[in-house]
Amino acid sequence: MAKLLQKHHSFLSLMFIAISVLQAKGRLHSDYYDETCPQAEKIIADAVFYATMHDYKVPPRLIRLFFHDCFITGCDASLLLDSTQKQTAEKDSPANLSVRAYYVIDNAKAKLEEVCPKTVSCADIIAIAARDAVHLSGGPYWKVLKGRKDGRRSNAFDTIDLPRPSTNVTELIHSFSERRLNTKDLVALAGAHSLGSAHCASFQSRLRHFSHKYDIDPTMDIWFAHILRMRCPKHNEDHNAGHSLDSTSKIFDNDYYKRLMVGKGILSSDQALYNDHRTKYLVESYAKYTDLFFTDFATSMIKLGNNGVNHHGEVRRHCRSVN
Ligand code: HEM
Repeated sequence: MAKLLQKHHSFLSLMFIAISVLQAKGRLHSDYYDETCPQAEKIIADAVFYATMHDYKVPPRLIRLFFHDCFITGCDASLLLDSTQKQTAEKDSPANLSVRAYYVIDNAKAKLEEVCPKTVSCADIIAIAARDAVHLSGGPYWKVLKGRKDGRRSNAFDTIDLPRPSTNVTELIHSFSERRLNTKDLVALAGAHSLGSAHCASFQSRLRHFSHKYDIDPTMDIWFAHILRMRCPKHNEDHNAGHSLDSTSKIFDNDYYKRLMVGKGILSSDQALYNDHRTKYLVESYAKYTDLFFTDFATSMIKLGNNGVNHHGEVRRHCRSVN
């Protein structure tokens, strides 16, 4: 009997160790804050809602913030850290200069620190805020997995890996695959360009002196190119000038894909998705079936949110600086 009990005990110990290791390895969970901070999601949803009521540009900015954070050194809120005397942070790199809405995360964090201090990581706040931004704009809703920790370093140099508007499909597929995101994820996530806008600098090389053969990028609808030329004149003094990324840029829908099919993608990297056989059928499917786009977008956002999750960092008290 004693032997049996001992066996049973060692089995239980083994199970306990296995569970602890799994937890230490730290899978993300949708109910991660259910006991420690049940109000977390509501507080973040409110912060996103109030900010959006004052500024319609908030949702696209939050979604882009999530992408740029997760794509570089994983979803560790490294994008939120301010530069120090020693180190220029990711947010001050050229690729991130038009990323905004950091204040929405700060507001949510301040409230969370009042209600449940040192509990909810900045990385989780970004992931929840991005989901809320999509949903508030008419897009899908999904359960956000949580339990990320915040990183302790942020280096502007790392943002060299962010895709550029001139990046071709082969490079896009490659850089997404390095983050365990496949071609379907790439095309589904690009649908985030259903919201928001781009500055002239991001697409004006398509409008004039495109190549030695073409003045205008031949993959762009010619009339559309002329409209964009008016928006972005040759000697443009207005550095804020630009164009919305699709025609319903405040509503999360599949119009973005429909426009790619008629040569009205703004960025070269967007238009390329329709002009490449590896991605074209996905563009066509999402243009045809909104439900499919929504389901795949939600799935790919969860995958993006799993990228390089940091389990050894900290829960920052202020999202702009390490503890
Ligand atoms: C596939 C590669 C991608 C490239 C090359 C790319 C590039 C860009 C560029 C150049 C802009 C305009 C920036 C400006 O001119 O200010 C932009 C805007 C935006 N991007 Fe992407 N992006 C990509 C993927 C994504 C993904 C995966 C997401 C989110 C899941 C995303 C979300 C957004 C949003 C929402 C905006 C609008 C921002 C605003 O209005 O403030 N992008 N992107």
